[in-house]
Amino acid sequence: MAGSVTPWEVKGEINYEKLIKDFGVETFSKLPKIFEENLLFRRKKIFAHRDFKRILDSIKEKKPFVMMTGLMPTGKFHIGHMILAQQMIFYQELGAKLYIAVADIEAYNARGQNLEESRRIAVDQYITNYIALGLKPKNCEIYFQSERSKDAKRANAFYRLQNLLANHITFNEFRAAYGEISPAKMNASLLQAADMLHPQLKEFEGAPLPVVVPVGIDQDPHIRLGRDMAKRLKITRFVPLSSTYHVFVPGLDGGKMSSSDETSFVALTDDAKTIKKKVNKYAFSGGKATVEEHRKLGGDPDVDVSYQWLTFFEEDDKKIMKIRDDYKSGKLLSGELKAMLIEKLTNIFGDLQKKRVLAKKNLDKYV
Ligand code: TRP
Repeated sequence: MAGSVTPWEVKGEINYEKLIKDFGVETFSKLPKIFEENLLFRRKKIFAHRDFKRILDSIKEKKPFVMMTGLMPTGKFHIGHMILAQQMIFYQELGAKLYIAVADIEAYNARGQNLEESRRIAVDQYITNYIALGLKPKNCEIYFQSERSKDAKRANAFYRLQNLLANHITFNEFRAAYGEISPAKMNASLLQAADMLHPQLKEFEGAPLPVVVPVGIDQDPHIRLGRDMAKRLKITRFVPLSSTYHVFVPGLDGGKMSSSDETSFVALTDDAKTIKKKVNKYAFSGGKATVEEHRKLGGDPDVDVSYQWLTFFEEDDKKIMKIRDDYKSGKLLSGELKAMLIEKLTNIFGDLQKKRVLAKKNLDKYV
């Protein structure tokens, strides 16, 4: 099935090469060491960008910059969400100021989920896990789209920006960027543009500055329009938005990972027994039907979900290469590969359980 990728829906086969061309985003040339040390950049899990040099320059020159991103609070926090959390923490350690939007208005407008439900999921699932994974309260603003700030000056500035942006985009541009559009979706688009641009207002960071928005590639239409609107709105001279795009972690069956399908993901709150069961039962295997055949012909790591997932979690490049080679040659069996993944996930997640208990006690330092 030919895939389709929009901010409202991702379906079918995803062809990243084609998306790079269609969306007009750039691939990375050589990155500084600190990025190469990060698994997600090194393994090209973060595979494309817009205007990223501006961020690299800010880091090099030790100038302030912002990392701004958002979360759609639906369902359980799973390993697909985790790679964005890892990026937040990475940028925080690099010295960025963080802005994190809980897209509760978008969840209402685009998915019909009420605000209370969004708040509950955002806090219990997302923010608690961000903290457990290492997000620090310093230089970090987490806010709800439905309630930007208790400070009237700041809140006014945010919602003023969203409203003024509406005058700087046409209906045809909306249609061209999104395909499908409705009043609710237009609102979500303008609100997300305000999310991405408002750190540059005087009420927030004081003056225009570089902002990097790490997202999945499905979000690029929002970035494109946000960049266009910023050029036309003259209330301040916005620095053009920078962005990076990460791949989607494949679902257990090799298709899409979806928070509404328990058998497609492993959640960070899944216990050891559940992890083991899910991987053994649902992880799509690139192995052969019988051990004899597998020994003779070898497996296919490129379609094997256990292998794919390990490339997100096993830090050691040599180990990953060896797993790949051994699987291809037939030396490593499918069951053995699954056992490796189960062990890795159990180790990482077991530790998080305790950290989440602590995180819950510290929530008020974040929201
Ligand atoms: N639309 C994003 C999603 O579907 C959530 C989001 C809201 C966002 N505001 C943002 C992402 C600003 C990046 C920047 O997940």
